[in-house]
Amino acid sequence: MVDLGIDHVPNEYLTSICKGITIKAPNNLPIIDLSGIDSDDLKRKSAAEAIHLACQKWGFFQVMGHGISNELMQDIIKMVHYFFNLPAKERMVYYSTDIYKSFRFSTGSVASAKKKFWSDYLFQHCQPAVHEDDVPESIPNYRKITSNYAKAVDELARKLLRIIAQNLGLDWQILEKHLDPPKQTMKMTYYPQCPCPDQAIGIGCHADPGTITVLQQELGVEGLEVNYNGQWIPVKPVEGALVINVADMLQILSNNKYKSAEHRVLVNTKRPRVSIASFYGPTDDKHIAPLEELLGDNPPVFKACLFREYMDNFYKNHLGTRNIETLRILNN
Ligand code: OGA
Ligand code: NI
Repeated sequence: MVDLGIDHVPNEYLTSICKGITIKAPNNLPIIDLSGIDSDDLKRKSAAEAIHLACQKWGFFQVMGHGISNELMQDIIKMVHYFFNLPAKERMVYYSTDIYKSFRFSTGSVASAKKKFWSDYLFQHCQPAVHEDDVPESIPNYRKITSNYAKAVDELARKLLRIIAQNLGLDWQILEKHLDPPKQTMKMTYYPQCPCPDQAIGIGCHADPGTITVLQQELGVEGLEVNYNGQWIPVKPVEGALVINVADMLQILSNNKYKSAEHRVLVNTKRPRVSIASFYGPTDDKHIAPLEELLGDNPPVFKACLFREYMDNFYKNHLGTRNIETLRILNN
């Protein structure tokens, strides 16, 4: 994608655009401070309440005081720019469309795909860990930066899952136990500039399949939007903040109490944009169903699914929209 050097947008990109205009509303997605919540009950209570409301209303929120240092956040963005500025020949060594590979360079613009997205990315497994042989040698400090980053994301995800479990009125460990061991992957995306941004899309509208996603946006470039009641609201990058979103398996586990949020990424003519998305969820062999503890008087809203099959459909539908609806039990 980066190397196409084209000055127009080929037709097949048009089919990927999810209709709907952007509401240039002020960014009123909640920004929740997690600092001090482990030692201060009042801070914990107010952060937990804010997370509960955000999971119900938006399925999207931002967090500060999350434990990932500014330095690491800057290093990883620089590292991704470094990779995408390497000569194409060096990058193509890592190119693969095999979704089970533990590290690969790929593109949202795969030649055979029905939907094409204006983006390239690096995809890496974190839990279970990337294979030693797959680690890219041509990126300085790749292993050190990504392993520190993945470890910090794991701690943050666990912290959030504990709060979310308690917010659902359940034992604080229930979600963590349910995912044990979790699957954690990271996608480092590069959205090149685009000559006609209204004719292409960085990534089409979708909800993430896992339980929660931790997303870092590069500062100073916009693009991410969340669907809120049919309107697209920009999620502006905030210094030091990470975006958290509820993904499909959390919507299922919570028996529809929390909603996974649809989102998309627009592109621009001026400059490329980098983002780091960490996906946290079940391993492929897990069956996911509404938690029994939440059923009581409420019937299950979704059927159980095998996560591997859910993921296969997600890729087959080129992200699709509302894949979760295929599991809804009707007449509820
Ligand atoms: C994704 C995604 C958002 C972004 O890769 O699933 O939604 O800002 N990325 O890059
Ligand atoms: Ni996403």
